[in-house]
Amino acid sequence: MFTSSTHGVPATGAVPRHVAIIMDGNGRWARQRRMPRVAGHRRGVEAVRGAIKAAVATGIEYLTLFAFSSENWRRPPEEVSILMDLFLRALEQEVAKLHANGIRLRIVGDLARFSPRIRELIRDGEALTAANTRLTLTIAANYGGRQDIADAAQRYFAAHPQAALPGAPPLAADALTPYLAMSYAPEPDLFIRTGGEQRISNFLLWQLAYTELYFTDLLWPDFDAAALEDALASYRSRERRFGRTSDQLQAAQRIVQPQVT
Ligand code: IPE
Ligand code: IPE
Ligand code: MG
Repeated sequence: MFTSSTHGVPATGAVPRHVAIIMDGNGRWARQRRMPRVAGHRRGVEAVRGAIKAAVATGIEYLTLFAFSSENWRRPPEEVSILMDLFLRALEQEVAKLHANGIRLRIVGDLARFSPRIRELIRDGEALTAANTRLTLTIAANYGGRQDIADAAQRYFAAHPQAALPGAPPLAADALTPYLAMSYAPEPDLFIRTGGEQRISNFLLWQLAYTELYFTDLLWPDFDAAALEDALASYRSRERRFGRTSDQLQAAQRIVQPQVT
C-alpha cells in the first residue's frame, strides 16, 4: 500500500518515484514535415524507447505512458488501425528487451476491444516481466480515467456488498484506491504533457490529485533525455505542500536536517 496524497503525506524526494506522461503531438510533428501522421506515430515509438532509457538512468521507479485513450477510437479508422498495428509490433519487438533490462510491463485500460493477438502479447509480456524491479513501465491503452473510477466503485461494492445496504457508513474516498487499475503503483509525482495542450484528456483523474503538472510545447517525437531533465529540474524547484503551509514544511525540514538552517 502507498501513502494517499489526500489522506497522508507521501514521501517526496529530488527524483520523482512515478512519472506519468501524455505523449501528444505525433500528428503535428509529421504535418510540419509534410509527412503522413503515421510517420509521426513511428517516431513516437522511438521517443518511447528513449524515455524508458532515460527514466531508468534517472532512477524513476514507475513510468506511465498514455498511448491510446478511450476517446481515440473516434479517429479515422485508418489511423486507429495503424496505431493498433504499431502497438502490436512494439509488443512483439520490445518485450524481450524490456525483460532483459529488468523492466516490469503493465498495461491498463479496457483490453476487450483489442485483437486476440494483442491481448495474448499483453498477457505473455506481463507474465514474463512480472518479477522485474528496476522500473515498472505502464502503458495506458484504451484507458479512460472516468471509467477507471467507475470500475473501481463497481469492484469495491462487489467485494463489500454490505457497504451498499441502507444505513451503511459513508464511503471514504480512499476506499476505492485499491480497486483502481494502477493500485500497484504510488500516485504520480510528476505529470508531463508534450504537444502544447494544457489538459488531462481523461488520463489518471483519480491519481493526479496532488501530482505536479508540467506542460511543454515540444512534440512527443522530439522529447528526449534532455527534455526529461528539463521536466525533472522544474519538478525539483517546486514545493509540494499537500495542503500544508510553507512554514510547516520548513519547520519539519529543520527537525529532519538540524545542520541546515
Ligand atoms: C499522440 O499524438 C498520439 C496519440 C494520441 C495516439 P497525436 O496523434 O494526438 O498528435 P497530434 O495531437 O494530432 O499532433
Ligand atoms: C491524449 O492525446 C491521449 C494520448 C496521448 C494517448 P489526444 O491527442 O487524444 O488528446 P486531445 O484529444 O487533444 O485532448
Ligand atoms: Mg493529440
